[in-house]
Amino acid sequence: MDEKMSIMIVDDERIVCESLFHWFRKDGHVVETASSGQEALDKLEAYPFELLFVDIKMPGMDGIELLEKVKREYPDTFVVIITAYGTIESAVKAMKLGASDYLLKPFKPEQLSLVMQRISQQKKLASEYHYLKGRLDTITRFDNIIGQSAEMEKIFAIIPEVAQSDAAVLITGETGTGKELVAKAIHAKSNRANHPFIAINCGAMPDSLLESELFGHQKGAFTGAVHARKGFLEMVSGGTLFLDEIGEISPKMQIDLLRVLEEKKICRIGSSQPLDVDFRLISATRQNLEKKISEGTFREDFFYRINVIQIHVPPLRKRVDDIPLLATHFLKKYSHETTRHVDYIKDEALMLLKQYDWPGNVRELENAIERAVVLSKSRTLGVEDFSFLKTEPIGSGRGQSLQEMEKAHVQAVLEKCGWNVTKAAKILEINRVTLHKKIKRFKLAKKSKASVKPTSLDDSFC
Ligand SMILES: Nc1ncnc2c1ncn2[C@@H]1O[C@H](COP(=O)(O)OP(=O)(O)OP(=O)(O)O)[C@@H](O)[C@H]1O
Ligand SMILES: [Mg+2]
Repeated sequence: MDEKMSIMIVDDERIVCESLFHWFRKDGHVVETASSGQEALDKLEAYPFELLFVDIKMPGMDGIELLEKVKREYPDTFVVIITAYGTIESAVKAMKLGASDYLLKPFKPEQLSLVMQRISQQKKLASEYHYLKGRLDTITRFDNIIGQSAEMEKIFAIIPEVAQSDAAVLITGETGTGKELVAKAIHAKSNRANHPFIAINCGAMPDSLLESELFGHQKGAFTGAVHARKGFLEMVSGGTLFLDEIGEISPKMQIDLLRVLEEKKICRIGSSQPLDVDFRLISATRQNLEKKISEGTFREDFFYRINVIQIHVPPLRKRVDDIPLLATHFLKKYSHETTRHVDYIKDEALMLLKQYDWPGNVRELENAIERAVVLSKSRTLGVEDFSFLKTEPIGSGRGQSLQEMEKAHVQAVLEKCGWNVTKAAKILEINRVTLHKKIKRFKLAKKSKASVKPTSLDDSFC
């Protein structure tokens, strides 16, 4: 086999580890050994080994338990089981749990070469599968809008329906909730998809600039108009115009746009020649436009024109079911982009991400994952990787930092398990050494029953 892999041999028999180590090393593979299941997990957390040779019979964690853990936390890692006590049953069990192959001790170099050939083929197929699956996901999802919450499912259902019509759409929602993504998805599903999608942030420009950007101008229409220029309303021709922050536009611009929407005609600045325009309008706002109408800063007639169909994108804290999916999606994106090989977020960390308030919504979550990936020192992200999220989390942890929430969580699990460290470590999905370090770092101590404060944990943990 030509391709070099990163391999770890896990066996309590030193002779097995050493002979395999030299055998693979002379072929140019990256090789490491571990004499117990726990050592293997620790090394795997620090480096993304692609292939593990695992002995079944080891003191402490046996090979089958290790296989189960590896497949759960690092599903893309290949595991080959080696055993001297091989029965058909244990081999079948191992294969059912996701082992790629097995070897019976003692084995010959030819058998090992054959196994390596099969692994190489599986690796090739797996990468093709991931590639195809990735492509399929991008094709079937609406422009990469990730979500599985009931709220997002409603939006997924309405997008194709709205796309069928040409009615004006108003998308409301807080900053970073994905309003622009929804607008793009409507455009992509509509029969205007082969025409331009032009997005303009109305809040970012003064009135005069916005006017010339939208309507264009004739040569000499104003100082600096050296050439005639088409505006976006002309350029969008047949496509979709997305006006972001529509609540920011001036009353004069509201009247001008109202006329365009009614007459489907424009005049460039400095010209009286009407030109036909053809576009679908999608607008977005974070503001409460009804309130602006009652305050007299937004025109009611214009509001009815732009608000034929309204889609509300709820804030992330109201659709916490989407958080693990989005976090994992961004983790893949940034570990790929930064080649940091971070490929797993611990349940404990996900739980805390679900409790956080996310005032900046999906955009803030994306930035948090990117930052955690860049700064992470291991292959998995834990609570400590998100300690920079300091603003108020919602729910039971209101007013606490993530560190404090983690401390309370670890303490609660320990108390529930009667300070049985092995049991608590298992529930927290960390190893015992890490748990001991956390106990030391947080200065945790056994509390008397009466002083244990209730936390957000439910009783199903122990
Ligand atoms: N459901 C989602 N799935 C994947 N990425 C998302 C999702 N929602 C938002 N994002 C990402 O979050 C960022 C912000 O999204 P977007 O610009 O659509 O939000 P917005 O509501 O228009 O924000 P603003 O009000 O600040 O303009 C983008 O990088 C976008 O790709
Ligand atoms: Mg936007």
